Amino acid sequence: MKIGIIGASGYTGGDLIRLLLSHSCAEVTCATSRKLAGKPIDVVHPHLKGFSDLCFENPSIDDLDIDFAFLAVPHTAAMTYVRPLLKRGIKVVDLSADYRLPQDVFERVYGVPHTDYIETPYGLPEIFREVCKGTEFVANPGCFPTGATLAAAPLAPLARSIIFDSKTGVSGAGDNPSAVTHYPNVGDNVNPYKWTSHRHLAEMRQQIGRLNPKTEVYFTPHLVPVNRGILTTAHILLEEPLGQEDVEDLYGRYYKGEPFIRYQMPVLAAVRGSNFCDMKAESEGNRVVVVSAIDNLVKGASGQAIQNMNVMCGFDERDGLMVPGLLP
Ligand SMILES: NC(=O)c1ccc[n+]([C@@H]2O[C@H](COP(=O)([O-])OP(=O)(O)OC[C@H]3O[C@@H](n4cnc5c(N)ncnc54)[C@H](OP(=O)(O)O)[C@@H]3O)[C@@H](O)[C@H]2O)c1
Repeated sequence: MKIGIIGASGYTGGDLIRLLLSHSCAEVTCATSRKLAGKPIDVVHPHLKGFSDLCFENPSIDDLDIDFAFLAVPHTAAMTYVRPLLKRGIKVVDLSADYRLPQDVFERVYGVPHTDYIETPYGLPEIFREVCKGTEFVANPGCFPTGATLAAAPLAPLARSIIFDSKTGVSGAGDNPSAVTHYPNVGDNVNPYKWTSHRHLAEMRQQIGRLNPKTEVYFTPHLVPVNRGILTTAHILLEEPLGQEDVEDLYGRYYKGEPFIRYQMPVLAAVRGSNFCDMKAESEGNRVVVVSAIDNLVKGASGQAIQNMNVMCGFDERDGLMVPGLLP
């Protein structure tokens, strides 16, 4: 299957190319960048030198000779690609936020009009796998909502409220430098930001709301001085107390057979570079604390996008994704 990556010079684009190198039936044949068209991909992805002879290109949608496209572009850019690609029979996974929320919620949260809305499945395979099977187009979840929703899903039907407290690495902001990501501001420091107003809160409310419309959801992110990873602590307040054994039994049953969920002490280094979500729960009666760890660029973006492609196309869901993390 011929794969095109639209926005291949960025962080998620680079990880899509890296992971797809080991996919048994998908090959990246087109990597786009407007600024770097004509240059070999290793000018910005030096770790891929020797693995791929691809050069960046900037083709029109009509000139794309591909079967499947990953949109690794900023929100609002993705909405200009989806319908023309689908019209040409090219399947799509969109990594941006453009199709994760209902149109009215998207427009309110992102403060821009949606110019080409299409309702499409939300690709969090562990929870919503069935609706993605055989479909042409999937919206890939945001990085924070992935770690948060996976941590809380088994208990969400029993939860009165959930507070997500997340720590994220700097690559979550993409490869465009800014004052916020400037080394002296990030290094040796921890910065809380958008304490009550992060855009991903709407997505978390949406997904937890599908599991229990009555659960209240809150979220505060913090920027920490690591390149990759999101560690999320979910404080889950239950309607009724649940003991440790019951909680562990519930998580074991809920994620039984899931290739990318590991019930073990979550640390960022153990999932770095991998598609795994590690998590563990501790009960204090009415309150259960669940901590999850993911790599924001893999399970939080490119890895999950490939997992979605595998689900959509009927491939083995693990294809291209069975790489361990990079501890230490
Ligand atoms: N970073 C993360 O942890 C993460 C996690 C989950 C989801 N996401 C989402 O995934 C998408 C990509 O994120 P990223 O971190 O990889 O971003 P990035 O590092 O900033 O890369 C963006 C890519 O898109 C291209 N691009 C920018 N504007 C474009 C346009 N109007 N038309 C076509 N190409 C355009 C850029 O190359 P040229 O400008 O040269 O064309 C570049 O290749 C974003 O929507 C982001 O929100 C990111």
